[in-house]
Amino acid sequence: MIGPRGLAAALRPCVCGRPSTPFILQRGSPLRSLLVRTLRAPYSSDAAASPPAATRAPKTVEINGKTYATDPWFNISPTVLSLTSRKLHLQKDHPVAITRKIIESVFPGPTYQYYNEIDPVVSTHENFDSLGFPPDHPGRARSDTYYINKDTLLRTHTSAHEVELFRTAQSGGFLISADVYRRDEVDRSHYPVFHQMEGARFWDRNKVPNGDLAAAVREDLARLPTHNMQVEDPNPPFHPDRNPLQAEHHTAEEASAVAAHLKRSLELMVNEIFSRAKAAAAAAKAQQGQTPAAESEADSEPLRVRWVEAYFPFTSPSWELEVFHEGAWLEVLGCGVSKQALHAQAGAPSQVGWAFGIGLERVAMLLFRIPDIRLFWSRDERFLGQFRGAGDDWSRIRPFVPFSKHPPCWKDVSFWLRGASAAGGNVKGVAGADWHVNDLMEVVRDVAGDSVEDVRLVDEFTHPATGRRSLCYRINYRSLERTLTNAETNAMHERVVRELAERLGVEIR
Ligand code: DAH
Repeated sequence: MIGPRGLAAALRPCVCGRPSTPFILQRGSPLRSLLVRTLRAPYSSDAAASPPAATRAPKTVEINGKTYATDPWFNISPTVLSLTSRKLHLQKDHPVAITRKIIESVFPGPTYQYYNEIDPVVSTHENFDSLGFPPDHPGRARSDTYYINKDTLLRTHTSAHEVELFRTAQSGGFLISADVYRRDEVDRSHYPVFHQMEGARFWDRNKVPNGDLAAAVREDLARLPTHNMQVEDPNPPFHPDRNPLQAEHHTAEEASAVAAHLKRSLELMVNEIFSRAKAAAAAAKAQQGQTPAAESEADSEPLRVRWVEAYFPFTSPSWELEVFHEGAWLEVLGCGVSKQALHAQAGAPSQVGWAFGIGLERVAMLLFRIPDIRLFWSRDERFLGQFRGAGDDWSRIRPFVPFSKHPPCWKDVSFWLRGASAAGGNVKGVAGADWHVNDLMEVVRDVAGDSVEDVRLVDEFTHPATGRRSLCYRINYRSLERTLTNAETNAMHERVVRELAERLGVEIR
């Protein structure tokens, strides 16, 4: 069943940290325009069938002390491999770790158990099959996912661990935080490695008093705190076409109770984060000697959130939660009532519950007002020093103050795609011959690393006689930490051009 947001929404494997729905634009907000530019290209239906592009593959790779054999599916760059050991979510005082801890505080033990050190190497079964992704799902494509070999990959989302934890976390709930990996475009809000949190809460219908699951869930709901956010929730808890109840497994009363518990829990989480963001902004203003009278309208507005129907292969019904931020609706998480097939695989078919996933950088960028996702990976004291001490004392959280703005340097590269047919290369995630824009992005990242701010298609052209396709991309070289010299930018660009020709077989114009 495809949800109200259409095929593109149904096809994408994941949303968190990778916003894929257009927001309403508010002009003039730099953070807003940044987040708006993070739209992910819709997956094409046959991307999964695209043949492997040439990658220089070692025979084996070592990740976190374990050795894995590669095969022709291998497509992980040395840079990405090197990031598997960084674990930003575990670094004290790092904004990603602080965000994680704030979220954990809303889901307390002993009900919720925390899992923060699960290895990123998973099987295709864990990442896709166990969650009900169909075999031809575009999210499985080599253009989108980092493979070690045909059956083994770097997890693309924390949902990969749901079934395993439904089996082992007997307390009735868990939170996972972890690094996740996706091949993607280069811009200020996309990075091939980012962090997600997965949360779940479940009840065992064989263990609840009198076997009354709905009553048990409602009782737990009554024990949750309340909040004073404005919540818009115009849709019914489920809808036969758009957002169906799992009628073979749940009564309407059960699904409604689980949905209500889910929604309140996640509203409390969002309330906690955004209240802290507000407090941080107010504290910064106070430090600058501004009085509360100088508070902007946005600061004094009550927090508004809304529930939107969604589709995920592993939940039904499903939703996304959006937050009204600086005049626009911003999607922050995906969630739903867990598909009963997941609990069955975990050997616990009597469990019933909900799950959610949230992108930590996305939230941290709002909480700390961090304007470029590359900053999270910086070891520059001018970045890290701004958060020192805030890990133990959240009242010390302040909006990030950019320490410099170095000049950009644009360079274009134009090339003919391989193959003479019109199909010889489509753009933006649309499959065609053996071209995928993410392969270009990967070469750029590989050669120029964090010295590139973004890469954009500026021109495309199909030769009327031959049908050959030409593309022109503009690469914006700009380091966050220093001014690049002309000579080094030229050298990097020359290497990018050379490697594009060599690795992707395109013909430079
Ligand atoms: N795994 C999804 C993603 O990466 C997010 C998600 C959606 C997680 C719904 C969930 C869920 O647990 O129920 O975008």
